[in-house]
Amino acid sequence: MCGITGYIGYREAYPIIIQGLRRLEYRGYDSAGVVLFDGQDINLSKTKGKVSELEKKVTEGVSTKGNIGFGHTRWATHGVPNHINSHPHLSQSGNLVIVHNGIIENYDTLKKELLSRGYKFHSDTDTEVLINLIEEIKLQENCKLGKAVQLALNQVVGAYAILVFDKNKPNELVVAKLGSPIAMGIGKDNKEFFIASDATPFIEYTKDAIYLEDGELAIVKLDRDIHIRKINDDQIVNDLRIQQLQLSLDQIEKGGYEHFMLKEIYEQPSAITDTYRGRLLANKGIIKMAGLDDNLERFLNAKRIIIVACGTSWHAGLVAEYLFEEIARIPVEVEYGSEFRYRNPIITENDVVIAISQSGETADTLAAVKLAKSKGAFVFGICNVVGSSIAREAHAGAYTHAGPEIGVASTKAFTTQITLLSLLALKLGKEKGNIDTPSYQTYLQEMVQIPSKIEKLLGEDAHVKKIAAIYKDLPNFLYLGRGYNFPVALEGALKLKEISYIHAEGYPAAEMKHGPIALIDENMPVAVIATRRGHYQKVVSNIQEIKSRKGIIIAIVTEGDTTVKDIADHIIEVPETLEAFTPLLTTIPLQLLSYHIAVMRGCNVDQPRNLAKAVTVE
Ligand code: AGP
Repeated sequence: MCGITGYIGYREAYPIIIQGLRRLEYRGYDSAGVVLFDGQDINLSKTKGKVSELEKKVTEGVSTKGNIGFGHTRWATHGVPNHINSHPHLSQSGNLVIVHNGIIENYDTLKKELLSRGYKFHSDTDTEVLINLIEEIKLQENCKLGKAVQLALNQVVGAYAILVFDKNKPNELVVAKLGSPIAMGIGKDNKEFFIASDATPFIEYTKDAIYLEDGELAIVKLDRDIHIRKINDDQIVNDLRIQQLQLSLDQIEKGGYEHFMLKEIYEQPSAITDTYRGRLLANKGIIKMAGLDDNLERFLNAKRIIIVACGTSWHAGLVAEYLFEEIARIPVEVEYGSEFRYRNPIITENDVVIAISQSGETADTLAAVKLAKSKGAFVFGICNVVGSSIAREAHAGAYTHAGPEIGVASTKAFTTQITLLSLLALKLGKEKGNIDTPSYQTYLQEMVQIPSKIEKLLGEDAHVKKIAAIYKDLPNFLYLGRGYNFPVALEGALKLKEISYIHAEGYPAAEMKHGPIALIDENMPVAVIATRRGHYQKVVSNIQEIKSRKGIIIAIVTEGDTTVKDIADHIIEVPETLEAFTPLLTTIPLQLLSYHIAVMRGCNVDQPRNLAKAVTVE
């Protein structure tokens, strides 16, 4: 997720753009850039690092004059964060310039075609491919920028929100959207316009805004109404849908949600979609992942897979243990980074080590990676931050495209990690012949259904909030699950602990009889994951054992369940799915439960006491 902001009007553009970029930094902050047109030249400045770095760079003599321009704060998806890969990007002629938020999946094919036509590229980004495709079409068709952008986007597969400028037509900007947000603020009498990823950059200048819809392209020209048309069929959009913004600055940064954590819980359908986009071609029965495909033999010949991680990422690793051992039949060990690095583990070159880390900066996980490499293991990194230390240290890897996770409590990182790990396990299982084609196809088709099932499940939020209100003041919680959902029980307990400060423990449901059941009484809420697939009857027995000791049962069940409904105090229904994918659903109500309890307890949900988003020290 990146932040885009642009201006065209009668004011000096630079101050508006820089302020806008500061407000959009929550969307991405690994590099930033700004471009201005001073009436004669395009003046572009960009740098690795935050907007504050950009401001220092711009003062080094780059002109900031001009009434038109735009800026970008990046969350890298293609190309590590550095000066060259940061936006804006110029076309080969230097006449066109673009900023882009999204992912062009078929950029490689487009790039090869442009290279064959003599184009040269300076960056590793998909965005530079797009601006040169637009230039090539503009030259070939001898058409205006808007038409060239439209024709180019009809060749593009992926997601985008773009802002494009042609120095030879300096009184207009072209805007287009598919899958990534873009808002346009309308100044009085069309004397100025603001374009941005959300309304935060222009909220104090105008409350009149248009949100482009998917598949729309807009021509923004001074002194006239914005002109919108459909990208695929050129149809004019007559209803401009101008709306009056009511949100505050703070609310808009959080997408209208009260906290980043809640926003990120609700982003999980799109985050999972973005993570498998370009990697899962379900209709073709294909899973492709460069870091894996280029090192397939290492995985297929591995004697075992060692997963190293911490916290929530470690819980994702535990889910992966079930995935890999069931689907790929590869032995898996899951290790805390902090333990692994100091116990002189036995590692050989036959081992594959998977390091999981949202931040890519967790010190213990990074140290474990270095240790594994020093002993000859092949290390594969699964990170969310492009160019992070663990991503760079690993021999290969794959990024979760979850976008920045601002809330300290990991939510979308967890589900996107599991998404990637599921694709890994399925690809390896198929390659090893452990899974037949029909079953493989069933998994792939079901994965594509998961985002919509989570969307539906998020509709349970109000119900979960009611449950939270009942138990928010109790001092202890237990979380129980079996099989794939044992790690989800651990994750649910961690979520509650870290944001509400209530003591909570997760256990395999069958472990109750080995001690914890002594804790059960009428003041002990027990969240039990009792989905229909996965030891269901055993879990029902565990529930009955708890109920017979007056324990309180909050059960996560498969929708339509009537058995558990008769014995539990509360049930939260999740859609049916394959057993291996149940963690992607059962974790959602537990995230919401912990969130609402923490809010009701007046805790700082996004920045809980004693915690940091990345533990970069031992
Ligand atoms: C989980 O909600 C916490 N934020 C924490 O346990 C986190 O998962 C852990 O510190 C690992 O962080 P990483 O994924 O960035 O390596």
